[in-house]
Amino acid sequence: MRLLRPLVRQRASALFDLVAGFVYSQTLQACVQLELFEMLRDGPLSGVQLVDRIQLPAPSLMALLDAAAATGLVQRVGDEYALGPQGAVLLANPSLLAMIRHHEHFYRDLSDPLAMLRGEVKAELAAYWPYAAGEVSSDAAQRYSDLMSQSQIMVAEQVVAAYDFGLHRCLLDIGGGDGTFLSEVGKHFHALDLKLFDLPPVTELARRRLAEAESRIEAYGGSFTEDPLPEGADLVSLIRIVHDHDDPTVMALFRRIFDYLPPGGRLLVAEPMADTTGAQAIAGAYFSLYFKAMGSGRPRSLKELRGFLERVGFVRFEHHPTALPLMASVVTVQKPSPASAVEGESNVTKS
Ligand SMILES: C[S@@+](CC[C@H](N)C(=O)[O-])C[C@H]1O[C@@H](n2cnc3c(N)ncnc32)[C@H](O)[C@@H]1O
Repeated sequence: MRLLRPLVRQRASALFDLVAGFVYSQTLQACVQLELFEMLRDGPLSGVQLVDRIQLPAPSLMALLDAAAATGLVQRVGDEYALGPQGAVLLANPSLLAMIRHHEHFYRDLSDPLAMLRGEVKAELAAYWPYAAGEVSSDAAQRYSDLMSQSQIMVAEQVVAAYDFGLHRCLLDIGGGDGTFLSEVGKHFHALDLKLFDLPPVTELARRRLAEAESRIEAYGGSFTEDPLPEGADLVSLIRIVHDHDDPTVMALFRRIFDYLPPGGRLLVAEPMADTTGAQAIAGAYFSLYFKAMGSGRPRSLKELRGFLERVGFVRFEHHPTALPLMASVVTVQKPSPASAVEGESNVTKS
């Protein structure tokens, strides 16, 4: 029995973390909204200095600082507060801070989880990502495209390291946002033609940004559900697109891309996927509820995506491992070429 004690303690601790998880997230949200990490950038500050700078009653601020210290966001150094290990990581990653800030909408949706799951509340996250349900205003496009652009750099690093874009002539990025992904690819592959396709309000933003940067990327506006895709690409990418949509939309999109590509052309899909080893809770729990609140989509596993893609007719399914699968796993498939039958080209899985 004594031998089992560490295991029992470990299980109890994991359970308590589940119980307290919402409080940890709210502590983090409060620190981010108060810009506490930015205040501690240049060094530790005393409780008195923090009370001077933060609009909260002193006892409330002390309670928050205690909570932040207990979760590693800040740490006490004598009578002062400094960045904790987690706070320092966050401060170095502005895209994470932006992501946390936008969670205020998700948390409000989750304040009554059953009402959210029953669809009884008008979800704030659904309004944040309006394309799932309808019209996208310029303001909404700007807000979500800024958020995506900030985290895109880290995603693009993973994708560029995982796949050799030099095998291709022309890349079409569908749902390409403001062009941050294509800009990153273009820095590494100078001979590649780059085309971006997104909803018109997003393409407008992209055009402005790309013109300022004197970029070679061409941007086209339209919906991938009905409008013609710009001609000429032998590689199509879907970066953080598939998980946003329900199965019928995803199957229709895969079919359109299959018909669009020349024989031998490829489709590359990159996004966080379900069943990601070592990150099951985020890949499963977080994304499942996130997309539920958003009103469409779900995280899919490699196996499930492979099934969808092969049903459409794609071959040569390949998984290209990334260092941070939580940011994105990368898979590619190929449209069969006439040589396929001769070469016995079939589905292969790397990794
Ligand atoms: C989650 S964002 C990803 C943006 C970018 N690929 C990235 O990873 O940063 C999804 C993108 O898909 C675009 N999108 C959604 N529905 C679309 C549609 N029907 N046709 C074209 N683009 C669409 C959105 O405007 C948005 O830019």
